[in-house]
Amino acid sequence: MRVPAASIVFSEDDIKEALSLIESSLRSGSLTLGKHGQAFEEAFAARCGRKHAVAVSSGTSAIEIVLRTLDVEGAEVIVPDNTFFATAAAVAHAGGIPVLADADRETLAISVDDVLARITPKTKGVVIVHIGGIVSPELPRLEEECKKRGLFLMCDAAHAHGASLNGRDASDWGVASTYSFYPTKVMTSGEGGMIVTDDEAIANEARIYRDQGKAGFTSNFHTRLGANWRLSEVHAAIGLVQLKQLDRFISHRREVASAYEEAIKRTGALTLPKAQKLGESNFYKFVAYLPEGVDRAELKKTMREKYDVGMSGEVYEWPLHVQPVFEQFTRGAYPGAEYACAHQVCPPVSARMDPKDATYVIESLASLISEGGK
Ligand SMILES: Cc1ncc(COP(=O)(O)O)c(C=O)c1O
Repeated sequence: MRVPAASIVFSEDDIKEALSLIESSLRSGSLTLGKHGQAFEEAFAARCGRKHAVAVSSGTSAIEIVLRTLDVEGAEVIVPDNTFFATAAAVAHAGGIPVLADADRETLAISVDDVLARITPKTKGVVIVHIGGIVSPELPRLEEECKKRGLFLMCDAAHAHGASLNGRDASDWGVASTYSFYPTKVMTSGEGGMIVTDDEAIANEARIYRDQGKAGFTSNFHTRLGANWRLSEVHAAIGLVQLKQLDRFISHRREVASAYEEAIKRTGALTLPKAQKLGESNFYKFVAYLPEGVDRAELKKTMREKYDVGMSGEVYEWPLHVQPVFEQFTRGAYPGAEYACAHQVCPPVSARMDPKDATYVIESLASLISEGGK
């Protein structure tokens, strides 16, 4: 395919380094909760500028573990309507009640006004998601409003490795941030996740939860309702190698995004969410809005068949309030999330993509849109 929807990048040197780390695990027999996991935690905490990082099995378990350390049993936790299933599901798995709140189409994040309108005496906290790698400029206001009301704020930063707002890292908000290293993400460990926090108590509790709620690695004394949420040494080795490339990956993605912005300005084919900024987003996704009336599914099909371009998956195609599993948690209207989900299109971005192809992608999209998207 001329421009694939995504590419996972491992140089020959990175493959060699990962294999040598994995070989040392195989030879030593240290296959979980060992030195690679510890090195990955230390390096990730340092990259974020935070005191603690706890490596876990996935971005999903990272969210659930933090929510368990905050004890959301029986409490309401406000989450975005336009997020991945796992953000809201983790609240339910941790014993809480997810309350879906609307999105702001210019930031793609949870709307602070809608969050405030959904607070009840049962509300314990809020989870914001940095959708597509955009850290919302409304985040300081949300943090302030949560503080005033004694609510916790945590960040699902599954999309936001290395992203920032006004020079402040995505991990530097709320009580803790959680990351995913699923293969489609800006950096990967195959499978894996990380909890990042300055709060020692959260970090200590998270270490207990991730290992079956055991008080210590070698004991069988269970003090919390944890699970097997450990990260294997093999995954940690891959994550360590990818982390070294994170800054390079992000700067390459920004070059592609810059080429997209330039072509969009020239063709006027799409509009952009105002909060998606070149120096701040990591461009996990490049999000753009289609004009009214364009059939996105048809457009994506023609991009693939006629132009050999794989459009990336949206963030997200469907808001959670239309997912049958969340029907019981849905209240009121979600116009912002509905707009963002229905109108967005995500041209491909990767750490390998030739920025010149960005011009080709936008010109192809522009000509299709001018023909009514067919
Ligand atoms: C916003 C968001 N939260 C959580 C997750 C879950 O991460 P994982 O797939 O590593 O469990 C994802 C992953 O796709 C995500 O996009």
